[in-house]
Amino acid sequence: MSVPTPHIAAKLGDFADTVLMPGDPLRSKFIAENFLENPVLVNNVRGVQGYTGTYHGKKVSVMASGMGQPAIGIYSYELFNFYDVKTIIRIGSCGSYHPDLHARDIIVAQAACTNGCYASQYNLPGTYAPIADFDLLRRAAEECEKKGVNYKVGNIYSSDIFYEEQTHWQDWAKMGVLGVEMESAALYCNAARAGKKALCILTVSDSFLYPEENTTAEERQNSFTNMMEIALELA
Ligand code: HPA
Repeated sequence: MSVPTPHIAAKLGDFADTVLMPGDPLRSKFIAENFLENPVLVNNVRGVQGYTGTYHGKKVSVMASGMGQPAIGIYSYELFNFYDVKTIIRIGSCGSYHPDLHARDIIVAQAACTNGCYASQYNLPGTYAPIADFDLLRRAAEECEKKGVNYKVGNIYSSDIFYEEQTHWQDWAKMGVLGVEMESAALYCNAARAGKKALCILTVSDSFLYPEENTTAEERQNSFTNMMEIALELA
């Protein structure tokens, strides 16, 4: 398929090699306006804002994914396969299952379990384990150390269901899974299939253990500066 694609109205070359990908289009705009020099809007189909600018002189793009594996599946597929993007770094929020992770702490997602069917398209005779690019993972951990933020590197759960009839979060926690979000497994599958690189960096927006700590929508949009700076350093 050639560009523009059904979901992205940009020209070839409009995106940098690395695209930062928050879920929320407003967060994409926030990053472009507050962190990028000379940001240019390169996509706005369905309000999924994509910008390209520079960070410390380096070309970098930011575009939202929307919520859920079907949405990030579409956008990351089109960026990797039709726009020749080499690296996608998701910067999202997650719920924490771990006693040492509180609201605003960071999870670097080494791998992503899922209840979704995204990997079924590959017809593998078993269960595929979607994983992050090791170099990005290692460098993200180093940036977290440098910043002195509280973080963990490990497994997460990409769920297709936010409002679940029955929650099984303690069962995932027993297996060492650190927290839950809704996109990473599909992104890691697309990166693997395309031979490209991906990493998901997640700020804890809510804790299943400490529900009183949950952040507001405004805090989620505005206060994730550490995660954004870590991702920009990797670009
Ligand atoms: N569940 C799924 N996705 C999330 C959550 C959650 O509790 N918090 C942030 N993203």
